[in-house]
Amino acid sequence: MPHTTSARPSPTSLDLVHRPRRNRKSDWTRRLVRENTLTQDDLIWPVFVMAGENKREAIPSMPGVERHTVDQLVRAAENAAKLGIPALALFPYVDAGLRDEMGNEALNEDNLICKALRAIKAEVPELGLITDVALDPYTSHGHDGLMEEGRILNDETVEVLVRQSVVQAQSGADVIAPSDMMDGRIGAIREGLDEAGYQDVQIMSYAAKYASAFYGPFRDAIGTAKTLTGDKRTYQMDPANGLEALREAELDVNEGADMLMIKPGLPYLDIVWRVKEAFGLPTFAYQVSGEYAMLEGAARNGWVDGERIMLESLMAFKRAGADGILTYFAPRVAEMMAAGR
Ligand code: PBG
Repeated sequence: MPHTTSARPSPTSLDLVHRPRRNRKSDWTRRLVRENTLTQDDLIWPVFVMAGENKREAIPSMPGVERHTVDQLVRAAENAAKLGIPALALFPYVDAGLRDEMGNEALNEDNLICKALRAIKAEVPELGLITDVALDPYTSHGHDGLMEEGRILNDETVEVLVRQSVVQAQSGADVIAPSDMMDGRIGAIREGLDEAGYQDVQIMSYAAKYASAFYGPFRDAIGTAKTLTGDKRTYQMDPANGLEALREAELDVNEGADMLMIKPGLPYLDIVWRVKEAFGLPTFAYQVSGEYAMLEGAARNGWVDGERIMLESLMAFKRAGADGILTYFAPRVAEMMAAGR
C-alpha cells in the first residue's frame, strides 16, 4: 500500500449507475422531487367546548390545548379561518349534572354543541363545522351507547344517534362524524338526515376506530376518564385486526359515507393506506390525544425537536394516503405556514 497523506479515501471499485443521493444534493432539488406536501388545506382542528363565559381552561394531559367557552371558541374559529384551516371538529365538556343514563342532553337543541354551532356559523360562516356523534360526553357511564345490564345496545343506540345527528344538522353542522362504532349507524343517519331535509350534510364516518389507550387524554378533556365504567372493546375494534377495518369501511361506504376516517393515526398508518387504496374515498386520519401528548410531552422536555417532529408526523399521514388530518397541532402548523416557514 503506497503511503498517502490525503485523508480522502481512494476511489472504490463501486461502479454505480443509480445514485439516489443525486436528487437529494440540495434544497432546490429536494423540493423539486418531493412527492407529498402538507398545507393548511389538510388540517381539521379538534376543539373542546365548555359552559361559561370568556374562559379558557388548560387540559394538563394535553399541554398547549384548552377548553373554550362558546364566545372564546368563536374567536378561535375566526383565527382558524384566517389561517386557512378548512374545518373544526367540536367536542363538548358536559357538566356532570347534565349527564344521565340515557345521554338525553345529546338531544337538547340548546346543548353546548348546538350553541357553539350557531354562534360560529353566525360569525364565521365560511368555516366547515364537523360534529361528533356518540353519547359518551352525555352519559353517566361514559359509554358511546345506551347500556343495559352492562351491555351496550346497538339498534336502540342507533335510533338516538339519528336524532342527535338531526339536532346537530339543525344547529348548523356541515359534517356529521359518528364515532360510536355501532353497526348500521351510517345508513340510518343518512336516512334520518335526508328525511329531515339535510341531503347536503356530509357524513364522515369513523370507519375504523380502534379500542385504544391513545384516547386517554381526550377523556380527561371531556371529563369521562373518571366516569367510564369498563372499556369500549365490545364496539371499538381490536388493535390486532387489519382486514376487519376494510370490512367496516366497506359497510360504511355502502351505507352512504362521504368520507372515511381512521383513528388513532400514526400507529395505524397501514390501515389508512389500505382503506384509501381499497375505496379511494376522501380518507382522514385522527392524530389523537395520546399521540399529541407523547409528541408534545417529549418536545416540552427538550427530548425531541417539537416543531420538526410535529411536521414529520403530519407528513407521514400524507405519505400514507390521507387527504387530511384531525390534529391538535392544526393552529400551530397553520400559523407556521402563514408566517411562511
Ligand atoms: C368518543 C370519542 C373519542 C375520541 C373522539 N371521539 C374517545 C373514545 O372513544 O373514548 C378520541 C379523540 C382523541 O383521543 O383525541 N366518541
